[in-house]
Amino acid sequence: MVKSNKIQSISYTLEELRPIRASVDQCRVQLSNFIEKYKSVDLLELEMRLLSRCVYKNWNARHAELGIQASRRVVRFLERFLAKRERQLEQILSEFKPDAVHISLPSRGTLNQLISNLQESSMLLSKAERLSKTTVDRLRLECSRGNYVHYNILIMSLCSRIYFLVLALDKTQQEFCTNMPGCIDYARFLSRAALRRQPSAVREATQLFARSPPSTISFASGSPNTSLFPFKDATITLTDDTTIHLDSSAMAKALQYLPTPGQEDLLQWLKKLQNRYHSPIDFKRYELCITNGSMEGLSKVFELILNYAEPILVDSPCYSGSLDCLRGFGADVISINTDANGMSAQSLHEILSNWSDPNTLPRVLYTIPNGSNPTGASMNLERKKEIYAIAQKYNLIIIEDDPYYFLQFQKPDPSFLSMDTDGRVIRLDSMSKVLSAGMRLGFVTAPVPLCHKLVCHQQVTSMHASALSQMVALKLFEKWDLSGFHQHTERIAEFYGKQKTLMVNAIRKHLKGMVTFNEPKAGMFVWLKVNGVEDTRKLIYEKALAQEVLLLPGSAFFYDQSKTYPYVRVSYSISTPEQIETGMARFGKVLREELNK
Ligand SMILES: Cc1ncc(COP(=O)(O)O)c(C=O)c1O
Repeated sequence: MVKSNKIQSISYTLEELRPIRASVDQCRVQLSNFIEKYKSVDLLELEMRLLSRCVYKNWNARHAELGIQASRRVVRFLERFLAKRERQLEQILSEFKPDAVHISLPSRGTLNQLISNLQESSMLLSKAERLSKTTVDRLRLECSRGNYVHYNILIMSLCSRIYFLVLALDKTQQEFCTNMPGCIDYARFLSRAALRRQPSAVREATQLFARSPPSTISFASGSPNTSLFPFKDATITLTDDTTIHLDSSAMAKALQYLPTPGQEDLLQWLKKLQNRYHSPIDFKRYELCITNGSMEGLSKVFELILNYAEPILVDSPCYSGSLDCLRGFGADVISINTDANGMSAQSLHEILSNWSDPNTLPRVLYTIPNGSNPTGASMNLERKKEIYAIAQKYNLIIIEDDPYYFLQFQKPDPSFLSMDTDGRVIRLDSMSKVLSAGMRLGFVTAPVPLCHKLVCHQQVTSMHASALSQMVALKLFEKWDLSGFHQHTERIAEFYGKQKTLMVNAIRKHLKGMVTFNEPKAGMFVWLKVNGVEDTRKLIYEKALAQEVLLLPGSAFFYDQSKTYPYVRVSYSISTPEQIETGMARFGKVLREELNK
């Protein structure tokens, strides 16, 4: 079987088609049993039973919901339909006697689309049924053989999904997930705290009200009356001298409590954004939650997965904010070496393959894939593929913390979210480097069951990210649209790219022979190794400061604080070209004195 990258088409030999057909047989038996067993049961009741099991026991609720929608309309229909289709397929295959068939496989997206829109699919099915009343010869004329086979495979896949759904009713989650291709047992990844969390009834009511028709009268809410607030409207002038306006109704929304995941229109916009830049293989697997900056998202994601003293694999060196968060948490931080391409797949593999107790293997990996803070390193596609393959082998969740995504100086490589075939990526985006750091806007994109628990946490902490910030961002995005946003990010990347070049040139000129570094491909930082210095703390805080130049000692970015480190993080984000030149000349002088050069 040959799979293309995005699994859009597949070549099956006839031999390989056999098990698919066998699973359809199995499926048919299961379907008849299902129909027999639940003949007298109201399907709706059955759905409620399954849904409550899924939602409250951390099942993969999306699969179940899709399955329910499918079962609602087509179970009986398919059972009749399938037998007929199979005979026809048989006939076609025997007539053409091909060695192999090349078919376009319905992508999971297509399949889900089909399942979730069964009204349409019912029509499609009946149309095909009408067609099938004609002879095979006519069929050959009316639709290509490839399409016909494709269509049958589509039906088979649909049936096997329903088959798995039926299985789910009688199985534990773990058993269900083992049988369901591409289904992850997310309960395995939840910390004890996350497992205990339940949706907050009050917050759920806010969500319910937000989604109700405007004519709904609510006596349920604890929201204050916005007419008493002193703010009326607002006009914000942008740097290009155009404006965005928050009229009184937008202002009222911006001053009120929001549903926890965020303002609905902004969420929809951010979904469009994720699709534009990452086009996840199956976006329905994920949900978004807007957070107060990505740091809030990160700390909640750590708490979502980790219990006290459990291991987490991280880049080393690593963003100090995350290390400090994990330290407070009591996590067992496992440092993985990095190089110019970010986390080393080889080191990661070595650590995992030599792990002493398989029962305590890490379940999660945290990495900053672009313009890393502090090293400026970016992972190339090859490295990402290697890391993803290891994550698959050891069943790890990948936390992709990517605040510098839009600060890339060359064409971006696909993100982990883009290549996530399994639903094992939690991605964190930040507006801090793009719109404003002070608005505190970030967002988490996570598989539905994980996002659901993250939202439960957010419901009882910040409740939601600032509604005013969300409204300002929304108005801006609506004015810009995706194209305007993209142009803005291009300007940003260009600015930081120029700053990087100035800084790298100044380092080469003033620190020649005294430091080694890799030129960043993204972000705001250069990571220097000072040759011949063991610990840069004194050098920075005493000697460099005395010369009126401030940098950050590398020790801040290592988990093990008992050691000394010869590194320095240099930021080029806010300095003018003159400051870059003068500052590096000053640091060069400090280093020459220190190294007697
Ligand atoms: C790697 C990394 N993650 C997260 C953050 C936090 O970003 P935010 O401002 O969105 O909270 C930062 C901030 O510098 C960062 O460098």
